[in-house]
Amino acid sequence: MGQLAVPLAKLLGAGRVVAAAGSPEKAAFLRALGADEVISYGRESWGEPVDVVVDAVGGGLLPRLVAALAPGGRLVAYSSGGGTVQAHDLLAGGKSLIGFQMARLARTRAADYTAWRDELWALRAAGRLRPAIHARVPLAEAAEAHAIIERRENLGKVVLVP
Ligand SMILES: NC(=O)c1ccc[n+]([C@@H]2O[C@H](COP(=O)([O-])OP(=O)(O)OC[C@H]3O[C@@H](n4cnc5c(N)ncnc54)[C@H](OP(=O)(O)O)[C@@H]3O)[C@@H](O)[C@H]2O)c1
Repeated sequence: MGQLAVPLAKLLGAGRVVAAAGSPEKAAFLRALGADEVISYGRESWGEPVDVVVDAVGGGLLPRLVAALAPGGRLVAYSSGGGTVQAHDLLAGGKSLIGFQMARLARTRAADYTAWRDELWALRAAGRLRPAIHARVPLAEAAEAHAIIERRENLGKVVLVP
């Protein structure tokens, strides 16, 4: 999902887009997608604070993500990775935490969901948003598709072809 978040942030006018990645290959991929900076999770300092964090990882990374926010900043959590945030870490900087799930939006705010989806399709049709496909794998070899994702090799989508 991060491969779409980076160009979308640029298209929507974000001044500085900082992407986080775990390997040099993914860092180069994110730079090519328009990230102004790419940080490695393991690095001690993540640089200047940001106004919005969009988190696909969760778990033990959450406290660092909250710390990476500037005062008044927002953390949007959409991963399946769980994790815990201390309320004090939010109130001290006037920060907020927002949960986001597309499937729930589709059910509970169908009109908004449709409008936002149409906006994305229009960007895609105009060639301004181009989802990257890492590999196309025959459905019969679905295990290999899973293995690619488990090895964290994929730069973009792994598509199963029926
Ligand atoms: N809320 C929603 O509506 C919604 C919609 C779609 C997906 N999701 C969730 O969003 C998350 C990302 O989905 P995705 O399709 O972008 O997955 P993905 O292609 O597998 O990307 C996830 C990235 O997370 C990083 N990562 C960090 N720790 C990891 C770990 N322990 N295991 C695996 N990856 C790890 C990896 O990057 P590095 O190797 O660079 O660390 C990996 O490229 C998932 O949790 C998914 O369930 C939520």
